[in-house]
Amino acid sequence: MVKAKKWILATKFDGEPKDSNFKLEEEDLPALKDGEFICDAVYLSVDPYMRAHVFPVGSVIIGEQVARVTESKSKDYPVGCLVQMYAGWSSRTLVDTKNLKAMETLHLLKVPDLGKLAPSLALGVLGMPGMTAYFGFLELCQPKAGETVLVNGAAGAVGSAVGQIAKIKGCKVIGFAGSKEKCDWVKSLGFDHVFNYKEADISKSLKEAAPDGIDCYFDNVGGDFTSKALQHMKLFGRISVCGGISIYNATQPRLTPDPFMTILSKQLKVEGFIVMRWWAKYPEGKAEMKKWIDEGKIKYRETVKDGFENMPQIFMSLLKGANIGKMIVKA
Ligand SMILES: NC(=O)c1ccc[n+]([C@@H]2O[C@H](COP(=O)([O-])OP(=O)(O)OC[C@H]3O[C@@H](n4cnc5c(N)ncnc54)[C@H](OP(=O)(O)O)[C@@H]3O)[C@@H](O)[C@H]2O)c1
Repeated sequence: MVKAKKWILATKFDGEPKDSNFKLEEEDLPALKDGEFICDAVYLSVDPYMRAHVFPVGSVIIGEQVARVTESKSKDYPVGCLVQMYAGWSSRTLVDTKNLKAMETLHLLKVPDLGKLAPSLALGVLGMPGMTAYFGFLELCQPKAGETVLVNGAAGAVGSAVGQIAKIKGCKVIGFAGSKEKCDWVKSLGFDHVFNYKEADISKSLKEAAPDGIDCYFDNVGGDFTSKALQHMKLFGRISVCGGISIYNATQPRLTPDPFMTILSKQLKVEGFIVMRWWAKYPEGKAEMKKWIDEGKIKYRETVKDGFENMPQIFMSLLKGANIGKMIVKA
């Protein structure tokens, strides 16, 4: 019998996540039956949605991981094979391949051969965050060459990819990120204007960088930033509402004005999305992103931290901006 470790949500999040929200538990995995395999986590993803999503106290914290098959009674998943799946914050998982329909939420995939690229990219630029950027931006903003695009969270996994895709499409790109180091990196990716939102006056910066207004706004941040950004949209602009990281930890209601009258008067097209709506089209998005990486048109960064035992601290540091590019935990 082998043991698995799992991080459990011990108490409901209230404000910023803290140590007492997390509990590490151990579980015995049963002996393998026909069609089953056991895999060990190699890379685990920590993402802002783990804070935003409501899930029951006592359950394993949600999340995707890349894992290696270590024992197998399934001919489709032999020992050594790399898989990716939403198995949560668990160090070891038993998968019953004969029962995958019932385990649909696992979204089990084999990690494709990425050549010289690290398999952790399956959790980043060639995985969910990359697909969020690719489909969430291209499908909802419908950018055209020559248009002006605004993206916040620009040094993060999603935002850094959105800005580069916008450049590939011939747009002028304005990015906002939270430190000089992050802004320097974002600028090196080819963004036309980059501002540190912790120091710059957001409205003044937007007026300077986009005197004629913004056509497409990809919003990772929400809150006060968005209230200000809306005022700089052109008539008939398009907004892809991806996330609201500035308000995930909020304990008080917002005091800034409601944005809907601006949306009305500027006749903006605003659409929210959950990236899984394009699950069936992921292969197309991943192939295009891989091609752009191979051609040197898309660059990526990862912040890789060690230790399954450190997952809560790594997750909490992500929410405070400790990452450049995708935050990954190496088990
Ligand atoms: N709709 C979907 O299906 C979908 C899918 C994936 C992700 N998302 C959303 O996309 C956004 C980005 O996700 P990601 O995975 O790429 O995360 P990320 O940007 O790699 O990491 C989070 C970043 O948020 C920034 N941040 C934290 N507090 C902030 C604040 N008050 N104001 C502005 N920025 C703040 C930090 O960077 P700074 O140092 O720059 O502050 C931090 O590094 C999140 O809102 C996430 O929920 C949505």
